Amino acid sequence: MKIIDRLNKYITEANDPIKPNFSIKDAKMIRKSIMEELQAVNDYTKRAYESENPAIKELFLDIAYEEKVHIGEFEEMLEIVDPEHETAEEEGEEEMEKFVEPEDDEFEDE
Ligand SMILES: [Fe+2]
Repeated sequence: MKIIDRLNKYITEANDPIKPNFSIKDAKMIRKSIMEELQAVNDYTKRAYESENPAIKELFLDIAYEEKVHIGEFEEMLEIVDPEHETAEEEGEEEMEKFVEPEDDEFEDE
């Protein structure tokens, strides 16, 4: 069972209708785990491209992908534990969309 499924099961099974009270320590542990997963993606990808054996390269790339899946699971957990994280993440995505796809009128003076 995936981590996020276990967490949701735990929340669902809790008798108290209010979600369990998560601590700052829980949020810190999840953020640290995301950083470790990101580092693992970089490490496995680097090893994949260092290998001259196609099977080894494929193995490391497959494992790197699995680490990306783990990042998604931890991000979902973090959104439950720290709801502000999701709000801030969405704000960041909107800001980046403006940067990547600027509105036409921003360039009218040029
Ligand atoms: Fe992982």
